[in-house]
Amino acid sequence: MFLNDNLKLFSGSGNAELTRAVCKYLEIPLGGADIERFADGEKVIRIEDDVRGRDCFVLQSTCRPVDEHLVELLIYLDCLRRASAKRITAVVPYFGYARQDRKDEGRVPITAKLVANLITAAGADRVLAIDLHAAQVQGFFDIPVDHLSGELVLSRYFRDKKIGNLTIVSPDVGNMKIASRYADRLSGDLAIVHKKRVSGSEAIAQEIIGDVKGRNIVMCDDIIATAGTICSAAKLVKDRGAEKIYIGATHGVFAGQALERLREAPIDEIVVTDTIPLTHEARDRGDIKVLTVSSMLGEAIKRIHRNESVSNLFTEY
Ligand code: R5P
Repeated sequence: MFLNDNLKLFSGSGNAELTRAVCKYLEIPLGGADIERFADGEKVIRIEDDVRGRDCFVLQSTCRPVDEHLVELLIYLDCLRRASAKRITAVVPYFGYARQDRKDEGRVPITAKLVANLITAAGADRVLAIDLHAAQVQGFFDIPVDHLSGELVLSRYFRDKKIGNLTIVSPDVGNMKIASRYADRLSGDLAIVHKKRVSGSEAIAQEIIGDVKGRNIVMCDDIIATAGTICSAAKLVKDRGAEKIYIGATHGVFAGQALERLREAPIDEIVVTDTIPLTHEARDRGDIKVLTVSSMLGEAIKRIHRNESVSNLFTEY
């Protein structure tokens, strides 16, 4: 065990498997806590370990059921604060509500900011997150945020595949910076799809900037939700003469018609990470590759605990 009893990691029910894997990396036992429900449906959490004066981390992905996992995280934070933890870090591999990060029409909320406020008010001293949809969401928190990217594990996977004739495609303009980093890491060319979002679940890929004819494609995104973005972009690049199409996304939400769309799209492989547990339906497909972010998260937690640089992870990984 390379860490002492001063570090505690607790798990919300949003991603217990990932928390166990992180504990394994850190060689620490999972923090003891009991999550129950009162008869009226309210949740109660009892921390079983002594956390007074300890450096505590609670890992919770606020994936479906989003509101339930979010409230559970808030209760956890409150619980740790009232139990006199010295420092509390909310480890949120998938941060639900992040995509509502601006008012793009009248009379709508900015839920990314609201959730950031809630997490802070509940007692978090810092946040460790992965691909918050837009880097500026970090600024919604007035506490330190360590922001990791699934790009580190995904690009390593694609690099090991040694794909020749490679072009990295960003499925929309918003993802261009990430795609350009992938292109650097994988020594590929870069192309960008211009997308028009028609509704929350419909996106139309309209044009491509860059050459995809005869090229193998790695298309990278932060999230596959309804898969409208990725499938529409895959069809367009295929129509323009692309060879194999690989998809790499950090968060595999697979909501609504996602699996149906992916089945019909000209895609050779889909790779996501375990920031969100795969839904049963997605698991049953048997062909969605899941890479773990556990060692990256574990390493970040270790460094936060030891007050060492987390940003160095990006160059070392
Ligand atoms: C868009 O800005 C994001 O990077 C994703 O491309 C998008 O949120 C994915 O959503 P969907 O799978 O529903 O198209």
